[in-house]
Amino acid sequence: ARAIIIDTDPSPDDAVAFLMALASPDELEVLALTTVGGNVPLALTTRNALMALELAGRGDVPVYAGAAGPLVGALRTAEHVHGATGFDGYDLPPPSLTPAEGFAPDRIVDLVMARPRDSVTLCGLAPLTNIALAMLREPRLAGHLHGIVLMGGARAEGGNITPAAEYNIHVDPEAAARVFDSGVPITMIPLDCTHRALTTAARMARLRAIGTPLAEAFYHLLTFNKRFDARQGGTDGGPLHDPTVIAALLRPDLFSGRLAHVGIECQGTLTRGMTVIDWRSVTGRHPNALVLNRVDAEGYFDLVIERLSRFGIG
Ligand code: BDR
Ligand code: CA
Repeated sequence: ARAIIIDTDPSPDDAVAFLMALASPDELEVLALTTVGGNVPLALTTRNALMALELAGRGDVPVYAGAAGPLVGALRTAEHVHGATGFDGYDLPPPSLTPAEGFAPDRIVDLVMARPRDSVTLCGLAPLTNIALAMLREPRLAGHLHGIVLMGGARAEGGNITPAAEYNIHVDPEAAARVFDSGVPITMIPLDCTHRALTTAARMARLRAIGTPLAEAFYHLLTFNKRFDARQGGTDGGPLHDPTVIAALLRPDLFSGRLAHVGIECQGTLTRGMTVIDWRSVTGRHPNALVLNRVDAEGYFDLVIERLSRFGIG
Protein backbone atom coordinates (compact mmCIF):
# COMPACT_ATOMS: atom_id res chain seq x y z
CA ALA A 1 0.00 0.00 0.00
CA ARG A 2 1.12 3.54 -0.72
CA ALA A 3 1.87 5.60 2.41
CA ILE A 4 0.02 8.92 2.59
CA ILE A 5 -0.46 11.84 4.98
CA ILE A 6 -3.68 13.79 4.52
CA ASP A 7 -3.60 17.51 5.26
CA THR A 8 -7.12 18.77 5.74
CA ASP A 9 -9.48 21.50 7.01
CA PRO A 10 -12.59 19.41 7.48
CA SER A 11 -15.73 20.47 5.99
CA PRO A 12 -17.71 17.35 5.01
CA ASP A 13 -16.04 16.84 1.62
CA ASP A 14 -12.65 16.64 3.33
CA ALA A 15 -13.99 14.02 5.71
CA VAL A 16 -15.43 11.93 2.88
CA ALA A 17 -11.96 12.05 1.32
CA PHE A 18 -10.04 10.80 4.35
CA LEU A 19 -12.67 8.20 5.19
CA MET A 20 -12.40 6.83 1.64
CA ALA A 21 -8.66 6.53 2.13
CA LEU A 22 -9.13 4.76 5.47
CA ALA A 23 -11.54 2.36 3.79
CA SER A 24 -8.86 1.42 1.23
CA PRO A 25 -6.15 -0.39 3.21
CA ASP A 26 -5.09 -2.53 0.25
CA GLU A 27 -4.08 0.56 -1.69
CA LEU A 28 -3.39 3.24 0.92
CA GLU A 29 -1.71 3.36 4.31
CA VAL A 30 -2.80 6.54 6.09
CA LEU A 31 0.07 7.59 8.39
CA ALA A 32 -1.75 10.58 9.87
CA LEU A 33 -4.22 13.37 9.37
CA THR A 34 -2.89 16.89 9.81
CA THR A 35 -5.25 19.80 10.28
CA VAL A 36 -4.95 23.44 9.32
CA GLY A 37 -7.07 26.57 9.67
CA GLY A 38 -9.22 26.93 6.57
CA ASN A 39 -12.94 26.53 6.05
CA VAL A 40 -13.31 27.25 9.76
CA PRO A 41 -10.67 28.04 12.44
CA LEU A 42 -8.13 25.38 13.41
CA ALA A 43 -9.89 24.33 16.63
CA LEU A 44 -12.98 23.45 14.61
CA THR A 45 -11.22 21.75 11.69
CA THR A 46 -9.39 19.59 14.23
CA ARG A 47 -12.61 18.86 16.09
CA ASN A 48 -14.39 17.94 12.86
CA ALA A 49 -11.59 15.56 11.89
CA LEU A 50 -11.88 13.84 15.27
CA MET A 51 -15.68 13.64 15.07
CA ALA A 52 -15.53 12.06 11.62
CA LEU A 53 -12.94 9.51 12.76
CA GLU A 54 -15.01 8.68 15.80
CA LEU A 55 -18.12 8.20 13.68
CA ALA A 56 -16.12 5.81 11.51
CA GLY A 57 -14.67 3.93 14.50
CA ARG A 58 -11.14 4.95 13.44
CA GLY A 59 -9.70 6.51 16.58
CA ASP A 60 -6.46 4.67 15.79
CA VAL A 61 -5.47 7.33 13.22
CA PRO A 62 -3.39 10.17 14.71
CA VAL A 63 -4.60 13.72 14.12
CA TYR A 64 -1.96 16.44 14.44
CA ALA A 65 -3.07 20.06 14.57
CA GLY A 66 -0.99 22.51 12.58
CA ALA A 67 -1.08 26.13 11.49
CA ALA A 68 -3.99 28.30 12.56
CA GLY A 69 -3.59 30.68 9.64
CA PRO A 70 -1.66 31.39 6.45
CA LEU A 71 2.03 32.30 6.17
CA VAL A 72 1.07 35.92 5.46
CA GLY A 73 -1.95 37.87 6.73
CA ALA A 74 -5.17 36.73 8.37
CA LEU A 75 -7.15 33.56 7.72
CA ARG A 76 -10.18 33.86 5.46
CA THR A 77 -12.70 31.23 6.54
CA ALA A 78 -15.73 29.99 4.59
CA GLU A 79 -18.61 29.71 7.05
CA HIS A 80 -20.93 30.93 4.29
CA VAL A 81 -20.40 27.53 2.62
CA HIS A 82 -20.14 25.02 5.45
CA GLY A 83 -21.85 26.78 8.37
CA ALA A 84 -20.44 28.11 11.63
CA THR A 85 -18.96 24.77 12.71
CA GLY A 86 -17.80 23.67 9.26
CA PHE A 87 -19.96 20.61 9.84
CA ASP A 88 -23.42 22.16 9.96
CA GLY A 89 -26.40 20.10 8.86
CA TYR A 90 -26.08 17.15 11.21
CA ASP A 91 -25.37 16.99 14.93
CA LEU A 92 -22.56 14.60 15.66
CA PRO A 93 -21.69 13.88 19.29
CA PRO A 94 -18.74 15.90 20.64
CA PRO A 95 -15.56 13.89 20.10
CA SER A 96 -14.03 11.89 22.91
CA LEU A 97 -10.88 11.50 20.78
CA THR A 98 -8.17 14.11 21.23
CA PRO A 99 -5.41 15.34 18.90
CA ALA A 100 -2.02 13.62 19.08
CA GLU A 101 1.03 15.43 20.49
CA GLY A 102 3.01 17.63 18.16
CA PHE A 103 2.75 20.40 15.59
CA ALA A 104 1.57 19.11 12.22
CA PRO A 105 4.43 20.51 10.07
CA ASP A 106 6.99 18.90 12.43
CA ARG A 107 5.14 15.61 12.35
CA ILE A 108 4.96 15.69 8.56
CA VAL A 109 8.74 16.07 8.51
CA ASP A 110 9.27 13.25 11.04
CA LEU A 111 6.89 10.81 9.35
CA VAL A 112 8.24 11.40 5.85
CA MET A 113 11.94 11.42 6.78
CA ALA A 114 11.55 8.22 8.83
CA ARG A 115 10.49 6.36 5.70
CA PRO A 116 12.59 5.52 2.65
CA ARG A 117 12.97 8.24 0.05
CA ASP A 118 10.19 8.35 -2.56
CA SER A 119 7.73 6.38 -0.47
CA VAL A 120 5.33 8.94 1.05
CA THR A 121 2.71 11.00 -0.80
CA LEU A 122 1.10 14.09 0.75
CA CYS A 123 -2.57 14.69 0.06
CA GLY A 124 -3.56 18.36 0.18
CA LEU A 125 -7.23 19.04 0.83
CA ALA A 126 -6.82 22.52 2.29
CA PRO A 127 -4.70 25.68 2.18
CA LEU A 128 -1.10 24.51 1.79
CA THR A 129 0.25 26.20 4.95
CA ASN A 130 1.27 23.07 6.86
CA ILE A 131 3.01 21.55 3.84
CA ALA A 132 4.91 24.76 3.10
CA LEU A 133 5.95 25.06 6.77
CA ALA A 134 7.17 21.46 6.74
CA MET A 135 9.30 22.26 3.67
CA LEU A 136 10.70 25.35 5.38
CA ARG A 137 11.62 23.32 8.46
CA GLU A 138 13.29 20.52 6.54
CA PRO A 139 14.86 21.52 3.22
CA ARG A 140 15.42 17.84 2.35
CA LEU A 141 11.70 17.07 2.61
CA ALA A 142 10.86 17.93 -1.00
CA GLY A 143 13.52 15.57 -2.34
CA HIS A 144 12.32 12.80 -0.06
CA LEU A 145 8.64 12.83 -1.04
CA HIS A 146 7.09 10.64 -3.69
CA GLY A 147 4.70 13.43 -4.59
CA ILE A 148 1.82 15.67 -3.61
CA VAL A 149 -1.74 15.25 -4.84
CA LEU A 150 -3.87 18.29 -4.08
CA MET A 151 -7.29 19.76 -4.65
CA GLY A 152 -6.86 23.39 -5.53
CA GLY A 153 -6.82 26.04 -8.20
CA ALA A 154 -8.73 26.50 -11.39
CA ARG A 155 -7.87 26.68 -15.06
CA ALA A 156 -10.70 27.61 -17.44
CA GLU A 157 -13.32 27.38 -14.73
CA GLY A 158 -12.59 30.63 -12.87
CA GLY A 159 -12.53 30.85 -9.11
CA ASN A 160 -14.97 30.14 -6.31
CA ILE A 161 -13.83 32.51 -3.54
CA THR A 162 -12.92 35.33 -5.93
CA PRO A 163 -13.65 35.48 -9.65
CA ALA A 164 -10.04 34.42 -10.30
CA ALA A 165 -9.05 32.15 -7.40
CA GLU A 166 -10.03 28.88 -5.84
CA TYR A 167 -10.35 28.85 -2.04
CA ASN A 168 -7.45 26.57 -0.99
CA ILE A 169 -4.92 28.52 -3.04
CA HIS A 170 -6.40 31.96 -2.34
CA VAL A 171 -6.19 31.50 1.43
CA ASP A 172 -2.43 30.98 1.39
CA PRO A 173 -0.89 31.80 -1.98
CA GLU A 174 2.60 32.19 -0.49
CA ALA A 175 2.42 28.63 0.80
CA ALA A 176 1.08 27.38 -2.53
CA ALA A 177 3.89 29.14 -4.40
CA ARG A 178 6.49 27.42 -2.20
CA VAL A 179 4.89 24.05 -2.75
CA PHE A 180 4.58 24.44 -6.52
CA ASP A 181 8.18 25.69 -6.75
CA SER A 182 9.53 22.91 -4.52
CA GLY A 183 10.36 20.43 -7.27
CA VAL A 184 8.05 17.78 -5.81
CA PRO A 185 5.94 16.06 -8.47
CA ILE A 186 2.47 17.54 -8.04
CA THR A 187 -0.89 16.30 -9.22
CA MET A 188 -3.32 19.21 -9.13
CA ILE A 189 -7.08 18.73 -9.23
CA PRO A 190 -8.71 22.08 -9.96
CA LEU A 191 -12.32 23.25 -9.98
CA ASP A 192 -12.43 22.26 -13.65
CA CYS A 193 -12.81 18.66 -12.38
CA THR A 194 -14.72 19.18 -9.15
CA HIS A 195 -17.40 21.43 -10.64
CA ARG A 196 -18.26 18.47 -12.82
CA ALA A 197 -18.56 16.07 -9.88
CA LEU A 198 -21.84 17.16 -8.32
CA THR A 199 -23.77 15.74 -5.39
CA THR A 200 -26.94 15.33 -7.45
CA ALA A 201 -30.14 14.23 -5.75
CA ALA A 202 -29.80 10.82 -7.39
CA ARG A 203 -26.24 10.32 -6.12
CA MET A 204 -27.17 11.52 -2.64
CA ALA A 205 -30.04 9.07 -2.56
CA ARG A 206 -27.57 6.29 -3.36
CA LEU A 207 -25.33 7.47 -0.53
CA ARG A 208 -28.22 7.47 1.92
CA ALA A 209 -29.35 4.04 0.77
CA ILE A 210 -26.13 2.54 2.16
CA GLY A 211 -28.17 2.65 5.34
CA THR A 212 -25.40 3.07 7.94
CA PRO A 213 -25.20 5.86 10.53
CA LEU A 214 -22.11 7.17 8.73
CA ALA A 215 -23.89 7.35 5.38
CA GLU A 216 -26.89 9.03 6.97
CA ALA A 217 -24.67 11.66 8.62
CA PHE A 218 -22.85 12.45 5.38
CA TYR A 219 -26.09 12.56 3.45
CA HIS A 220 -27.18 15.44 5.70
CA LEU A 221 -23.77 17.12 5.94
CA LEU A 222 -23.35 17.17 2.17
CA THR A 223 -26.91 18.34 1.66
CA PHE A 224 -26.18 21.37 3.83
CA ASN A 225 -23.35 22.42 1.48
CA LYS A 226 -25.68 21.95 -1.42
CA ARG A 227 -27.79 24.92 -0.34
CA PHE A 228 -24.85 27.24 -0.90
CA ASP A 229 -23.74 25.62 -4.12
CA ALA A 230 -27.26 25.67 -5.54
CA ARG A 231 -27.46 29.43 -4.85
CA GLN A 232 -24.22 29.88 -6.75
CA GLY A 233 -24.92 27.86 -9.82
CA GLY A 234 -28.50 26.64 -9.76
CA THR A 235 -27.14 23.12 -10.35
CA ASP A 236 -28.46 19.80 -9.11
CA GLY A 237 -26.11 19.45 -6.15
CA GLY A 238 -22.75 20.96 -5.29
CA PRO A 239 -19.18 19.93 -6.10
CA LEU A 240 -17.70 17.08 -4.08
CA HIS A 241 -14.20 18.55 -4.15
CA ASP A 242 -11.71 16.81 -1.92
CA PRO A 243 -12.46 13.10 -2.44
CA THR A 244 -11.12 13.60 -5.98
CA VAL A 245 -7.64 13.53 -4.42
CA ILE A 246 -8.16 10.05 -3.01
CA ALA A 247 -9.98 8.93 -6.16
CA ALA A 248 -7.00 10.03 -8.25
CA LEU A 249 -4.74 7.78 -6.14
CA LEU A 250 -7.11 4.82 -6.22
CA ARG A 251 -8.31 5.14 -9.80
CA PRO A 252 -6.14 7.45 -11.91
CA ASP A 253 -7.98 6.15 -14.96
CA LEU A 254 -11.02 8.22 -13.90
CA PHE A 255 -9.09 11.43 -14.68
CA SER A 256 -7.25 13.01 -17.54
CA GLY A 257 -5.12 16.10 -17.89
CA ARG A 258 -1.70 17.27 -18.91
CA LEU A 259 1.66 18.30 -17.55
CA ALA A 260 2.00 22.05 -17.32
CA HIS A 261 3.79 24.79 -15.45
CA VAL A 262 1.59 26.29 -12.74
CA GLY A 263 2.47 29.70 -11.35
CA ILE A 264 0.76 31.10 -8.27
CA GLU A 265 -0.26 34.75 -8.33
CA CYS A 266 0.72 36.26 -4.98
CA GLN A 267 0.46 39.94 -5.92
CA GLY A 268 -2.61 40.76 -7.97
CA THR A 269 -5.26 42.92 -6.38
CA LEU A 270 -7.97 41.11 -8.33
CA THR A 271 -6.17 37.83 -8.91
CA ARG A 272 -4.35 36.92 -5.68
CA GLY A 273 -4.24 33.15 -5.39
CA MET A 274 -4.96 32.54 -9.06
CA THR A 275 -3.30 29.47 -10.57
CA VAL A 276 -1.71 30.62 -13.82
CA ILE A 277 -1.50 27.42 -15.85
CA ASP A 278 0.70 27.33 -18.93
CA TRP A 279 -1.57 24.90 -20.76
CA ARG A 280 -0.03 25.59 -24.17
CA SER A 281 3.60 25.84 -23.02
CA VAL A 282 3.91 29.45 -24.08
CA THR A 283 6.48 30.26 -21.39
CA GLY A 284 8.75 27.31 -22.13
CA ARG A 285 8.96 26.75 -18.38
CA HIS A 286 9.37 23.17 -17.26
CA PRO A 287 6.05 21.62 -16.12
CA ASN A 288 5.78 21.38 -12.33
CA ALA A 289 2.39 19.68 -12.14
CA LEU A 290 0.10 17.19 -13.74
CA VAL A 291 -3.06 19.27 -14.03
CA LEU A 292 -6.16 17.10 -14.20
CA ASN A 293 -9.04 18.79 -15.99
CA ARG A 294 -11.49 15.98 -16.67
CA VAL A 295 -13.15 13.44 -14.42
CA ASP A 296 -15.51 10.58 -15.09
CA ALA A 297 -18.12 11.79 -12.59
CA GLU A 298 -20.21 8.62 -12.63
CA GLY A 299 -17.19 6.42 -12.00
CA TYR A 300 -16.05 8.80 -9.27
CA PHE A 301 -19.34 8.65 -7.38
CA ASP A 302 -19.47 4.87 -7.80
CA LEU A 303 -16.08 4.75 -6.07
CA VAL A 304 -17.06 7.20 -3.30
CA ILE A 305 -20.22 5.26 -2.50
CA GLU A 306 -18.52 1.88 -2.66
CA ARG A 307 -15.75 2.98 -0.26
CA LEU A 308 -18.13 4.66 2.20
CA SER A 309 -20.25 1.50 2.25
CA ARG A 310 -17.26 -0.34 3.72
CA PHE A 311 -17.91 1.29 7.11
CA GLY A 312 -20.19 -0.97 9.08
CA ILE A 313 -23.11 -0.10 11.24
CA GLY A 314 -20.71 0.83 14.06
C1 BDR B 1 -11.99 23.63 -1.40
O1 BDR B 1 -12.45 24.50 -0.38
C2 BDR B 1 -13.04 23.76 0.65
O2 BDR B 1 -14.21 24.35 1.07
C3 BDR B 1 -13.26 22.37 0.12
O3 BDR B 1 -13.14 21.42 1.17
C4 BDR B 1 -12.15 22.21 -0.88
O4 BDR B 1 -10.96 21.78 -0.27
C5 BDR B 1 -12.74 23.91 -2.67
O5 BDR B 1 -12.47 25.19 -3.13
CA1 CA C 1 -10.93 21.11 2.13
